[in-house]
Amino acid sequence: MDIWTNNDLYLTEGLIEEDVALEHALTQSRNLNLPDMEISPTQGKLLYMLAKIKNAKRILELGTFCGYSTIWLGKAIPDDGIVVSIEYEAIYAELACKNINYAGLSSKVNVLNGDASDLLQQLIAEKEEPFDMIFIDADKPNYSKYLELSLQLSKSGTVIYGDNVIRDGELCNKNSSDPKVIGVQQFIEKLSNTKAIESTSLQTVGIKGYDGFTLSIVK
Ligand code: DHB
Ligand code: MG
Repeated sequence: MDIWTNNDLYLTEGLIEEDVALEHALTQSRNLNLPDMEISPTQGKLLYMLAKIKNAKRILELGTFCGYSTIWLGKAIPDDGIVVSIEYEAIYAELACKNINYAGLSSKVNVLNGDASDLLQQLIAEKEEPFDMIFIDADKPNYSKYLELSLQLSKSGTVIYGDNVIRDGELCNKNSSDPKVIGVQQFIEKLSNTKAIESTSLQTVGIKGYDGFTLSIVK
């Protein structure tokens, strides 16, 4: 096993309290042989802590998958808070709703099943109140479009977190033809060119291998 996997497991055992609902979401996902796309426990707790540091009440998530990260975010907000989470795949959205219900978080989480661009445009048109925190974790080729739309659902201080930006180290490959790599490159470019936000990014290693995330704040 990689040394970083062993160390991530050590840190998870040491620092991340066991949570029946989070375990349940992972077990359901494994039992259905779904892809291993959830964030790691240490990353989930980072999102949870960012939401707490931010005193976030309203969180937007793009890419619910089985609801693992959604549960972390739901746990971080007060009872009168809301996580709006968008999922394209109907079977993932259905499973996530079950897992969120099992976690007792149904009253604080609204899973929307459909195309994220369409649903974001709908939220913008309906003048949805801006979010305190936005977790972008959906299909990588559309990350820059999602950022553009997310900015229209933001306010000064909104925290935007982008998952999976390193692409096994291919991020810096300017000749890549991989749509996911190109999507994340466009995302980084948009972060860089958008005057209204300031951003940083860190590479990570752990149980999910070599990866990384971006962290931005709206000025
Ligand atoms: C994939 C997507 C994710 O959001 C993730 O965290 C890991 C993998 C994927 O599309 O393979
Ligand atoms: Mg991800």
